[in-house]
Amino acid sequence: MPVDELTPEVKAPPGLDEATNLRQQVRACGMDPNYWYAVEEVRNVKPGKVVEVVFWKRSIALYRSDDGTFHALDNRCAHRQVKLSIGEVSGCDLICEYHGWRYDNSGQLVHIPDTFARSEPPRVSIRSYPVQVRYGLVWLFPGDPELASERKLPEIPEIEESSGGEKPWGTVHVDFTCSAHHSMIIDNVSDFSHAFLHRRYKPFDKADLLQLETRGDNVHMTYESRVGRGRISSRFVDHGRLDTDHIDLCYEYPYQWSNTSDEIKHWLFVLPIDEQTTRTFFIFYFKSFKVPSLPIRLPRPVMKAVLKIADRTMITPLLSQDRIAVEAEQEGYNRYWDLRPLEVNPAVREMQQVTVRKWREFLESESQNKSTAHESRVSVNGAGATDDAQPDRQAIHVNGAS
Ligand code: FES
Ligand SMILES: [Fe+2]
Repeated sequence: MPVDELTPEVKAPPGLDEATNLRQQVRACGMDPNYWYAVEEVRNVKPGKVVEVVFWKRSIALYRSDDGTFHALDNRCAHRQVKLSIGEVSGCDLICEYHGWRYDNSGQLVHIPDTFARSEPPRVSIRSYPVQVRYGLVWLFPGDPELASERKLPEIPEIEESSGGEKPWGTVHVDFTCSAHHSMIIDNVSDFSHAFLHRRYKPFDKADLLQLETRGDNVHMTYESRVGRGRISSRFVDHGRLDTDHIDLCYEYPYQWSNTSDEIKHWLFVLPIDEQTTRTFFIFYFKSFKVPSLPIRLPRPVMKAVLKIADRTMITPLLSQDRIAVEAEQEGYNRYWDLRPLEVNPAVREMQQVTVRKWREFLESESQNKSTAHESRVSVNGAGATDDAQPDRQAIHVNGAS
C-alpha cells in the first residue's frame, strides 16, 4: 500500500474567516485582551525572579522586584530580541542576559554596560503592561492600558480578609496548562452532561439544564444535579442543610464561576496561550464542611487540613480527568474538524456564540484603531539610532572600518 494512503494528509483546522460553522469559528478565536487575565500564581515567582508568561501568542516577561512588586515587559530585548525572561532582575529593573541592556519597569532602556564611547544609551523603550495582585494571583492587562483602570477584576469577598472580621472561606487553588483551546475548557466546566467522565468521584450526577439565559456577555445557567455525592465528599458536605440538588453556573466572559447553595463556589480564570494551549487557574472555595456522620461544622483549622487532602485525593485528580478529556477533544478536532458538530446541550452553543462575538468585536475595533493602537515596536529616536539604516559611527570607528 502506498505510504500516503497509510498516512492521509490532514488539513489544519480553518481560521475564523474560513470557518463554516460555529464550532470551527470558536476554536479559532482568541480572547479580548481588554480584560484582566490571571497569568501566574504569586507563590510561583519569588522576589528577584523573572518568568515568561504568554497571552495569545504574545510572550511577556513577568518579574518581581526585591520589594515583592510585580512588573511586566514585552519579552524581547530591543537590541537583538533575546527573551528578557532569561535575564536578571535588579531592583525594579530587568537586565538582558546577553549584553546587559537594562530596562526600568516602564520598559525604558536606562543603561548599556558598554556604550562604545557614547555618553547615553539610545532612547529606546519596550512595552510595559499594567499588573496587579489579588486572590493569590498575578493579573495582567494585555490590552489598551488606558482601559485597565476601568475594567474591574471579579469580586470574591468570601476569600479576602474582611474588615468585619469574618474569616475567609477555605480555598483550594489549582493551576495547570492544558493542550486545548480555551473554548473547549469553558465548554467542559459549564456543561454538566459529562457526569460519566467523573463517575468515580461524582462531583455532580444526573444533570438536567433548568435555566439558560444570555445577558450581555454573560451566559447564566442552572442545572438540576446532585452535587458532591462521591463516597468521601458526601460525608463532608451538609446535604441536610444545603440545597445540593441545584447548581448555578455562569460564563462571565472571559471568566467562569459556579455556586452551590451559596456555600460551595468556584471561579475559573483562563489564560489563552494559542489555538491549542490554555492555562487554567481555578479557585474553589467552601464556606464550611461538616463532621462526617454528625450535623456539626468542622473547625476552620481542621477544614484547612481536609481541603489539602481533598485537593490531592479528589479535586486535582478530577480536574486531570477533564484535562485528559479536552486534550483528547483537541486531538480529535485537529483531525476531524470538518465533520458535522453534534451538540446536545444548548448552553454550549450560547457560550460559543459569546466567545465568537467578543473576538469579532475586538478584531473590528482593532482594525478601526489601527493607527492609534499600542504597538510593541521599538521606538528609535533619530539622534541615538543604532539600527542598520543608521550604523553606529562609534562602532565602525572602533572596528577600524572607517
Ligand atoms: S540582546 Fe539584549 S542586550 Fe543584546
Ligand atoms: Fe468535569
